[in-house]
Amino acid sequence: MNPLNRDRHSNDSIEPGPVTVVKREPLAPNLQLLTVRAPVVARKIQPGQFVIIRADDRGERIPLTVADWDREQGSVSCVFMQIGTSTYKLGRLKAGDALPTFVGPLGKPLELDRWGTVVVAGGCYGIGSIYPVARALKEKGNHIISLIEGRSKFLLYWLDRLEAESDRVIVSTKDRSVGDNRYCPGLVKDLLASGKQVDRVIAIGCTFMMYLMAEATRPFSVKTIVSLNPIMIDGTGMCGACRVSVGGQTKFACVDGPDFDAHQVDWDLLLARRNAYLDRETESAQR
Ligand SMILES: Cc1cc2nc3c(=O)[nH]c(=O)nc-3n(C[C@H](O)[C@H](O)[C@H](O)COP(=O)(O)OP(=O)(O)OC[C@H]3O[C@@H](n4cnc5c(N)ncnc54)[C@H](O)[C@@H]3O)c2cc1C
Ligand code: FES
Repeated sequence: MNPLNRDRHSNDSIEPGPVTVVKREPLAPNLQLLTVRAPVVARKIQPGQFVIIRADDRGERIPLTVADWDREQGSVSCVFMQIGTSTYKLGRLKAGDALPTFVGPLGKPLELDRWGTVVVAGGCYGIGSIYPVARALKEKGNHIISLIEGRSKFLLYWLDRLEAESDRVIVSTKDRSVGDNRYCPGLVKDLLASGKQVDRVIAIGCTFMMYLMAEATRPFSVKTIVSLNPIMIDGTGMCGACRVSVGGQTKFACVDGPDFDAHQVDWDLLLARRNAYLDRETESAQR
C-alpha cells in the first residue's frame, strides 16, 4: 500500500499506487473539475457513490460525489464548489500533484432500474453529480427529463453532456438569463401539476435545494431520492459524524446512503448538524 494513503480503510477502497492529478480546470466561477488517476477506484465506482479526498498532508478529509470516470484510462472526476479551506486548497492543485488521501468508492451505488420517466435535478456541484446518473438511467431505457438550476447562465456547465443523455433538458436561472427563475423545485412541481407521468425524481445539490425538491414532490407522492451531504469524517460508519434520521431511524449517510427517500428525511436535523462548525470553518477560511 502506498504509505501516503495511510487511512484506516479496507485495502479494497484504497488505491495501491499514488493518486495523481490528471487535470484541474474551472467549469464556472467557484466550480472546478478535478480528474485524478485512480485505476482501482475507476474500475469499481458507480453512479451515486463518492470519494474522500485530502488536498495536502495537513488538510481535512472531504467527501466529493463522483461526476465521471474512465475505466480504461483509470481516471475519476469530481466537480467541487470552492466554499472553504479544503475546497480552496483543491482549487490550487496542478496536473502531476499527488494526493495524500483518495479513498473510494464509498457509499452505496444509487438504485438503477427501468422505471419509465425519471426526472433528474442538479444544482451547483450536483449538475456534475447528476450527469452519470442520467447516463446510467438512459442506458436502462428510461425517459430522462433533466432539470438544471443556477443563479445565472455563466454558472451552468455540462449542459451539452446532459443534453446527450436526456430526452429533455429544462434550465432555470435566478436572473432569467436562461429559462425562468423557478429553479428545480418549481419546475418539477409544474411538470407534476400538468399531469405529466413521472415515475421517479432524483435530486443532487445543496441541502436546501434537495429539501425543496422533497416538499415539491411530496403532495404528488412521486418517489424522490436525494443524495445527502452531512459532515463526514471517516466515511466508513465508525465516527458517527454523518448521522441522519430517515423514516424515524438513525442512519449513517456514508454507509447506509448517501441516497435516501427525500420524503422520509428529517431535514431540520440535517440542516442543523451541517452548520454545527460554521464559526470555525469561517475562521479557518479567513486564515
Ligand atoms: C456524500 C457527500 C458528497 C459530496 N459531494 C460533493 C461534491 O461532489 N462537490 C462539492 O463541491 N461538494 C460536495 N460535498 C460537500 C463537500 O464535502 C463540502 O463542501 C466540503 O467538505 C467543504 O469543505 P471546505 O473546507 O472547503 O469548507 P468548510 O468551510 O470547511 O465547510 C463549508 C460547509 O461544507 C460542509 N462541510 C464541511 N466539512 C465537511 C465534511 N468533512 N463533510 C461534508 N460536508 C462538510 C459544511 O456544511 C460546512 O458548513 C459532498 C458532501 C457529502 C457528504
Ligand atoms: S462519516 Fe463517519 S460514520 Fe459516516
